[in-house]
Amino acid sequence: MARKREESGKLRVLIRREAIGRRVGALAREITRDFRGERVHLVGVLKGACIFLADLAREIRLDVSFDFISVSSYGKNRESSGEVRLLKDLDIRIQGLNVILVEDILDTGQTLGYLLRVLRQRRPRSLRIAALLDKPERRVNQVAADYVGFHIPNEFVVGYGLDFAESYRNLKDVCVLKPEGERMRGKGPASNGQSGQR
Ligand code: IMP
Ligand code: MG
Repeated sequence: MARKREESGKLRVLIRREAIGRRVGALAREITRDFRGERVHLVGVLKGACIFLADLAREIRLDVSFDFISVSSYGKNRESSGEVRLLKDLDIRIQGLNVILVEDILDTGQTLGYLLRVLRQRRPRSLRIAALLDKPERRVNQVAADYVGFHIPNEFVVGYGLDFAESYRNLKDVCVLKPEGERMRGKGPASNGQSGQR
């Protein structure tokens, strides 16, 4: 109980599960319309996108296949350096497929910028981006998503797949994790610096 009360003090619900569900349904209908009669291949960016991908895939009324890719980025001065490295490549060849890259959040755009460059070289039939969240204020690399769930302000969020130090991914709502002064500084919410696997 004590832990639960402490946790709820750190978290503020930003997007409720019902709103997420409705928006994911709407994105899936858009994708279904855009690719009518075709097959789509979802590529989820581990690990943050896995819950979004699971829900999205089940709402798309088409022949759907999916795969996962994993990348890491290295922090320089506690900010993402923009250096992205492939940790786990795709299992399935994407040549000739309608690929939709599925990401939890589009922040600086460095991750998706890198992945677009890598995947484009493999000659998919089409290549689009679906991002549950978009923080346009933070963009460094001008990447635009084709399907965006919600535009959010520049705050550090967790839940529905998004983590802070690997915790909170299982929250059903997207919540703002309030910075806690010195203790958190440089580790996520305070500076938004990230490193390691997504
Ligand atoms: P980008 O390369 O800066 O666009 O980084 C995108 C990645 O950073 C996402 O896939 C997340 O893993 C992480 N990220 C960015 N903002 C947040 C946030 O507010 N909460 C949790 N993770 C975040
Ligand atoms: Mg991610």
